[in-house]
Amino acid sequence: MINSRRRFVKDIGLAAAGLAILRPDQLFAAATADRKVRLGFIGTGFRGEGHVALALRRADTEVVAICDVDERMLERTTNVIKKSGKPMPKIFTGDNYAYRQLLEMKDLDGVIIATPWEWHAPMILDALAAGIKYIGTEVILGITLQDHWDVVKAVEHNKAHVMMLENVCYRRDVMAVLNMVRQNVFGEIVHVQGGYQHDLRGIKFNDGKNPPGVGVEFGEKAFSEAHWRTEHSVHRNGDLYPTHGIGPVAMMIDINRGNRFVSLCSFSSKTRGLHDYILSKGGANHPSAKVNFSLGDVVTTNIKCANGETILLQHDTNLPRPYSLGFRVQGTKGLWMDVNSSIYVEGVSKDDEWDAAQAWYDKYDHPMWKRWSKDTQGAGHGGRASACSNHARELSSSEDRWAGR
Ligand SMILES: NC(=O)c1ccc[n+]([C@@H]2O[C@H](COP(=O)([O-])OP(=O)(O)OC[C@H]3O[C@@H](n4cnc5c(N)ncnc54)[C@H](O)[C@@H]3O)[C@@H](O)[C@H]2O)c1
Repeated sequence: MINSRRRFVKDIGLAAAGLAILRPDQLFAAATADRKVRLGFIGTGFRGEGHVALALRRADTEVVAICDVDERMLERTTNVIKKSGKPMPKIFTGDNYAYRQLLEMKDLDGVIIATPWEWHAPMILDALAAGIKYIGTEVILGITLQDHWDVVKAVEHNKAHVMMLENVCYRRDVMAVLNMVRQNVFGEIVHVQGGYQHDLRGIKFNDGKNPPGVGVEFGEKAFSEAHWRTEHSVHRNGDLYPTHGIGPVAMMIDINRGNRFVSLCSFSSKTRGLHDYILSKGGANHPSAKVNFSLGDVVTTNIKCANGETILLQHDTNLPRPYSLGFRVQGTKGLWMDVNSSIYVEGVSKDDEWDAAQAWYDKYDHPMWKRWSKDTQGAGHGGRASACSNHARELSSSEDRWAGR
């Protein structure tokens, strides 16, 4: 338990660090009519391919380099680039350190990292050492506490910017609720909840060819996330992926803007889901059926904050369930819950009855969503991924203003 608690603290620390150093605005400010932002992409798997596709949609951005070690992934992404009609970038591949050649390119304004978790910190540190000033990395930012301190110190030393690409902060309902929190609709915030509650069994295993739901291989014989992510469920126990839950709620209670996490306790349930999945799909004689998984099926963490709020965070990726991040934001006047998409505000809602949240979202749509949403049409994920950089550059400055309220 102590180990899982320590690991969790590391990840929480990371979330806080990443939010604190968020300043992508200056990167896009560098773009002018005849000088586009030149981006390199390390990791063009399923997530990286999506990032490349979004960058190709932008008029102020050039995709100048991509890197991956898997030919199939590179081929998928080069097909996307061909279809866009934009120039083919330089391609780096061959071994696990080919990305270092990408980092040596002159005139690279920024890099986006979408590789397995264990590569994030080394790639960020190498990018900083190569003089790159703007780095976007997929969540999470590193594995160990030392990873996170190394990144924070290197960022400060190099006067650079690292942004964790925590896209849930830019979900439309989440932004509307952030706006409601800022406008005091829920009163003083007392308690928040969130998490990563996503049945990943079909992602953690495959047959080496098809990513979702076919086969029970993982590791060397598997493809995409089953190639690397499942190992973390074998060897680690704790909240392995906290930022989708903690990122949005941390903004709502001003973490690193006058508030901070002070202590936590974390408990893991027994582990059953992955083994049961292997038995049902591959049978008791499949080699994967002999693996002992460390990761508890449901990991529950309580965090106490300096300003008196509590946070309940859950990580739940091994059992059958519909996707839900389980948000709840509760204050002295009312609360939002995303599971049933409902809101209750005392004196406004009918006594002891939930309001459907949609009318509230419409009324409190975040001003930045209203401003940028036309640019996100067709971008997928409710548009939040493509809107992310635009929103982020304004959020970073306007959130600073809110912090001073
Ligand atoms: N924010 C989100 O909503 C979201 C969604 C999906 C994935 N992710 C994150 O994105 C990251 C990538 O996930 P994914 O689903 O694309 O996984 P993936 O396995 O499909 O892609 C990872 C890619 O990295 C490549 N890679 C591995 N080692 C490399 C190296 N040394 N140099 C260059 N390339 C290397 C792999 O070949 C693979 O193509 C993970 O951190 C994951 O947690 C985030």
